Amino acid sequence: MFDPLKLKKDFPILSQKINGYPLTYLDNAATTQKPKCVIDKTIEYYENYNSNIGRSSDSLAIRALNAYEETRKTVQKFINAKHETEIIFTRNTTESINLAAHSWGEENILEGDEILVSIFEHHSNFVPWQNLAKKKNAKLLIAPLNNDLELDIEAFKKLLSEKTKIVCISACSNVLGLKEDLISLTEIIRANAKNAKILIDGAQSIAHQKTDVQKIDCDFFAFSGHKIFGPTGIGVLYGKKHLLETMPPFLIGGGNIIEVNNEFTDFADIPQKFEAGTQNIAGVIAFNEAINYFSSLDINEIMTHEKNLFDLAYSLFSKEKGVKIFAPKSTQKRSGILSFTLEKAHPHDIAQVFNEEGISTRAGLHCAHPLHLFLKIPATARLSFSIYNTEEDIEKAYKALQKTLKIFA
Ligand code: ALA
Repeated sequence: MFDPLKLKKDFPILSQKINGYPLTYLDNAATTQKPKCVIDKTIEYYENYNSNIGRSSDSLAIRALNAYEETRKTVQKFINAKHETEIIFTRNTTESINLAAHSWGEENILEGDEILVSIFEHHSNFVPWQNLAKKKNAKLLIAPLNNDLELDIEAFKKLLSEKTKIVCISACSNVLGLKEDLISLTEIIRANAKNAKILIDGAQSIAHQKTDVQKIDCDFFAFSGHKIFGPTGIGVLYGKKHLLETMPPFLIGGGNIIEVNNEFTDFADIPQKFEAGTQNIAGVIAFNEAINYFSSLDINEIMTHEKNLFDLAYSLFSKEKGVKIFAPKSTQKRSGILSFTLEKAHPHDIAQVFNEEGISTRAGLHCAHPLHLFLKIPATARLSFSIYNTEEDIEKAYKALQKTLKIFA
């Protein structure tokens, strides 16, 4: 039986008080909290086998390298990549997407080509492509939402053509919580844009649904460790082997070289080709614990739990006058993210009142300026749920909402 209260006990940070109230953490889209096993693993590494990897060959270095590579195997299995070498460790989703945009994009995007993104992308999956398009004299096309706050599939189809070289889309919007069906999206793309590669930004989906990159049939998939109970400073870029093999390295220097002479440098094979410099070794090793922790839970139970939390929050919040919720109409396309505005209070004021009650939320533009421009709103307040949130957390958030409405009546 899925028991969020029991899970909560695995996260030391959640037992503290903020402003005299027990902490209610509803900012999981920004980052998730870390279970004790992840914290302990970081300490274990630094206390017992801190060493650089891929350089020295003493006992410490071998132990560290083995643990580091163990995580690669875990990630491969977790997202069902075909090859271990398709897993590249980066710092975060942003770096993963930048890697693809620079390394694949610089080589493959030519003048007149088209890059398709959606209007609900996080800046991480928008700005690198906008920048690349400008540099190459290519076109950045932007797929709109329909009135139901879902991807306008007909408009999306019309934007696909033989000119489309890459489609970059989020598995889940960090503001709307919108999750389109990835398998049918990739089918639509393959059928209407035969030259297009597909990149999925999985930052907001990785800890909330099953990820199977072979089933999705994407070319690239990016996500961050800290959004799935792992440390900050560790991310993943999955890429199909044949693509990664032909892409030039993104960063160059130590760690990704076979041989260098005065005229010439021979780069290492994948994945080392893309892992220049000393990596976040502790982070990668502790990330293994995070994935194992998450994988020990039932993904269907997680999804049902987070859906129930969303439904409860939605029904409570939508009862109140002056509250506007920005969520997809189709309940199937919703996830554990609830963004809203109040008629009389700015989102930053809302977040402040919530914080007075010990509730962590996020307010602002959420690194999604194009979406807010599209919606014609200056900002939103956002609650985002995870495995350790309870119905009681939502009821506390509702009380904080009522307090906010009273203050700003
Ligand atoms: N991308 C993170 C968020 O949506 C930081 O809050």
